[in-house]
Amino acid sequence: MQTGLNEKVVLITGASGGIGSEVARQFAKEGARVVLHYHQNVRGARNLNVELGESRSQMAQADLSQEADVARLFETIEKDLGPVEIVIANAGKYTPTTPLHELSLEQWNQTLSANLTSQFLTLREFFRGIKRHGLLAPSAVLIGSTAGKFGEAFHADYASAKGAVMHGFLKSLKNEISRLAPKGRVNAVCPGWTLTPMVRDFANDAAAKVRVAQTIAMKKIARPEDVASSVLFLASSQLSGHLSGECIFVSGGMEGRVLYAPEEVDASEV
Ligand SMILES: NC(=O)c1ccc[n+]([C@@H]2O[C@H](COP(=O)([O-])OP(=O)(O)OC[C@H]3O[C@@H](n4cnc5c(N)ncnc54)[C@H](OP(=O)(O)O)[C@@H]3O)[C@@H](O)[C@H]2O)c1
Repeated sequence: MQTGLNEKVVLITGASGGIGSEVARQFAKEGARVVLHYHQNVRGARNLNVELGESRSQMAQADLSQEADVARLFETIEKDLGPVEIVIANAGKYTPTTPLHELSLEQWNQTLSANLTSQFLTLREFFRGIKRHGLLAPSAVLIGSTAGKFGEAFHADYASAKGAVMHGFLKSLKNEISRLAPKGRVNAVCPGWTLTPMVRDFANDAAAKVRVAQTIAMKKIARPEDVASSVLFLASSQLSGHLSGECIFVSGGMEGRVLYAPEEVDASEV
């Protein structure tokens, strides 16, 4: 089935990262004109730009937690390619393992900035473009996380930011976008553990992988391709034109968390 993405201008935030780069590959394969956003990893973005071809992709740098950077990002894209028609709000940052009683306000603010404020600023600029250009069927896909569904001990900052993205933010925006554009849609893809640089430490920890696999029906963690294909599906009006405000969990049937190791539980006290 056709995706209808040919020649669409698609901004992928965090395209220098593991999931974002695969999303960019899949959109480029469909003939979209992809904007490869990066923050610090210029090399990752450049390699991808070369791989996808400079006629099909272009790089764009921004710290998405900064208002002026996001405005400049959209202005540059509009000047070079025309208005952004599809946004994949994928950029985000996992945080150091920190119990709540040791979590500094500084870390809390930084995590919310990188994972929630960045999505607010990106989507606000996108919505402004929709209004200015009268786009008819714009589409956005937000990247949440199973952390926002199940919570995650020692990552309350990250889980809170993701929870806000995939619940209150998503559900509000799907009602606003259709007032700006009758066929406008906002959806989310919420990955579980996915093999990318973000979870490098976890990927090298066999015990952690076994603990996590115990919560996943399919006993495997996702690959970026698994996440990217759901993003493509939700972004395409031809494939999912009547879906809005939905969240697809790409998590192999994950049920929750293993809270304790067997040695931490005394059967006589249960
Ligand atoms: N991997 C997982 O297990 C997993 C699970 C659930 C959800 N997710 C979510 O999936 C998304 C992609 O994650 P990933 O695994 O692909 O991670 P990744 O490889 O570390 O990529 C993260 C991307 O976000 C960008 N970024 C971070 N902070 C930014 C900021 N302040 N401004 C602009 N860009 C910023 C990074 O840019 P630079 O590198 O260029 O600085 C990078 O491109 C994230 O939202 C993450 O929370 C991942």
